[in-house]
Amino acid sequence: MTDQAARLVVLVSGSGTNLQALLDAADEPGYGAEIVAVGADRTGIEGLDRAARAGVPTFVERLPDHPDRASWDAALAERIAVHKPDLVVCAGFMKIIGRPTLDAFPVVNTHPALLPSFPGAHGVRDALAYGVRVTGCTVMFADAGVDTGPIIAQATVPVLDGDDERELHERIKVVERALLVETIGRMAREGWSVTGRKVRLGA
Ligand code: GRF
Repeated sequence: MTDQAARLVVLVSGSGTNLQALLDAADEPGYGAEIVAVGADRTGIEGLDRAARAGVPTFVERLPDHPDRASWDAALAERIAVHKPDLVVCAGFMKIIGRPTLDAFPVVNTHPALLPSFPGAHGVRDALAYGVRVTGCTVMFADAGVDTGPIIAQATVPVLDGDDERELHERIKVVERALLVETIGRMAREGWSVTGRKVRLGA
């Protein structure tokens, strides 16, 4: 990327602790990225409040306000484009990103499991039910599938005896926030290349 801070649009659907980690990191000199807008698919979420407290512009594009998915996909891409992002980051955004956004911008997603195991909306619950002893989180490019894009970074988290979904997810999220901040910062500062499914950070 350039010497200027990379422009990030961050998409959220929930509590926004990953967003908060990015907001905090972007405040540090030399991080290399700034959050120029936060978008959501619903109102009344803490993620939007976090953006507002940080003085970052927000927008909401709700699927129920559209006649069909294609209309929502197009509207979301337009709302994002207004902010001219270098990178779109889905930080707990609970919708599949459609072609209009994928075709216009690089889109990075974070997932609370070690892909390709346990994709989808219940990655933590599914890993726990399967009985794995190690799980973790994945930062990857979004593509048209469900958590199927090229993997950028992963980190592991042990499953402890007696873990329930909430406890395990909270421990994963500690690691996930750090991984997301580190990965987005490196992408912003060093750039990246993708060859097939292999992602390389750096020039
Ligand atoms: C993260 O674990 C994300 O991967 C998952 O939902 C969680 C969002 O947490 N899809 P938060 O909204 O950033 O606190």
